[in-house]
Amino acid sequence: MRVLAMLDGTLADPEAAHIRVDDLGLLRGDGVFETVLVVDGKPRELGPHLDRLERSARMLELPAPDRAAWEACVQVVLDAWRGPAEMALKLVHTRGPEFGDGTPTGFAIGMPIGEKVLRNRESGVRALTLDRGFDPEIVDRAPWLLLGAKTLSYAVNMAAGRWAEAHDADEVIFMAADGSVLEGPTSNVVIAEGRTLRTTPPSSGILRGTTQGALFRAAEQAGWVTKVEPLTLPELRAADGLFLASSVRKITRVHTLDGEALPDASALHRELNALYESEYA
Ligand SMILES: Cc1ncc(COP(=O)(O)O)c(C=O)c1O
Repeated sequence: MRVLAMLDGTLADPEAAHIRVDDLGLLRGDGVFETVLVVDGKPRELGPHLDRLERSARMLELPAPDRAAWEACVQVVLDAWRGPAEMALKLVHTRGPEFGDGTPTGFAIGMPIGEKVLRNRESGVRALTLDRGFDPEIVDRAPWLLLGAKTLSYAVNMAAGRWAEAHDADEVIFMAADGSVLEGPTSNVVIAEGRTLRTTPPSSGILRGTTQGALFRAAEQAGWVTKVEPLTLPELRAADGLFLASSVRKITRVHTLDGEALPDASALHRELNALYESEYA
């Protein structure tokens, strides 16, 4: 069950070919994307996702995404969806064909959430910390590394996930060379310490998460303190709860870190999930 709409608003067969083989998104991963969670026909955090698509496109010096066209294209997929209540909606914006006229390729594809993600939301996950190989200090010095842009070049992120699976883990938490915590390959790291929630700062070269943003908004309203500042591995281990936040994962609990069981944070997990869901009630 998939629904595909091209950026011009036409529905297309998701099983058929539509993108040229010389599209630079395919040849070089030269493009940007977003994955939006849709629940009961309503996209969550669509504004922040489109803001981030625009920010990523700017960093790659791609043509600016046409916001009105994207909103209309999203609506076409929402209207045609006949699948489960929850959908992962991918928005893809590439540099278009090599030696073409510079017109970007754009499409939105809706698909069901993967079984594994759904299972992990309930059971929690085992996470492995892995070296990401850069120091946060490089972010401003080397803008061409595109740290903090959501590009289509996710081969490293996918490889890290496979590494975790081959080493008795479900998820990865990337560490910077200076020992600070970065993010997951497709998620943000959040810890709870008492009534304080903390996450790592975008200035360290990570993606500003729309899910983490929604959770912090709700938590602040409920009287929690929130902090966006560097985190260390000992802080992850000592926290009352360690979580990975992303659009499709929502707030997933980490119960085992680098093979060591963490304190049971099931109750905290239920509380944070309820806070996050309250944003969309
Ligand atoms: C590298 C990375 N960090 C963080 C996130 C979480 O972002 P969001 O909550 O907006 O889905 C993602 C999402 O896929 C990601 O790819």
